[in-house]
Amino acid sequence: MKILLLSGPNLNLLGSREPEVYGTATLDDHVATASAAAQAHGAELEHHQSNAEGDLVDAVHAARGSVDAIVINPGALTHYGWSLHDALAAFDGVVVELHLSNPNAREPWRHVSVVAPVATGSVMGFGGDGYRIAIDAALAAVGAVAAGSAVGQSQ
Ligand code: DQA
Repeated sequence: MKILLLSGPNLNLLGSREPEVYGTATLDDHVATASAAAQAHGAELEHHQSNAEGDLVDAVHAARGSVDAIVINPGALTHYGWSLHDALAAFDGVVVELHLSNPNAREPWRHVSVVAPVATGSVMGFGGDGYRIAIDAALAAVGAVAAGSAVGQSQ
């Protein structure tokens, strides 16, 4: 089982970027949390961060056919990244949208997610714990999809 963790723009600054919103843990800390959660279930985790939408689109394309689930914190691309939306729509595995904060409790422009309609589900508002929760959710969803019993699938 292989999981791709994708991190969008500005997440490389975690730890020093608006710590009152995003906390003091670095992106490396969150990747370590996600890796440990994946390894605990015998899954392999790969991580890629980019500040460029095209790089993330390329990473989603490369994941087609070789990755079981994508966990993605798209950063601000969440709210307007239509090419990322389209790339994820063309991905055949599980997609978990992840946010440290709860965008729905913030500025109105953060209330729209163009990723949510192509995600299997979303984890938001749990800070760094969200990385473990999102990996567990992705693993559960891959298992559920394999068993043909995922929510939203034909039952
Ligand atoms: C974020 C929320 C987004 O609105 C914001 O642009 C980010 C981080 C989060 O993890 O809470 O960059 O995705």
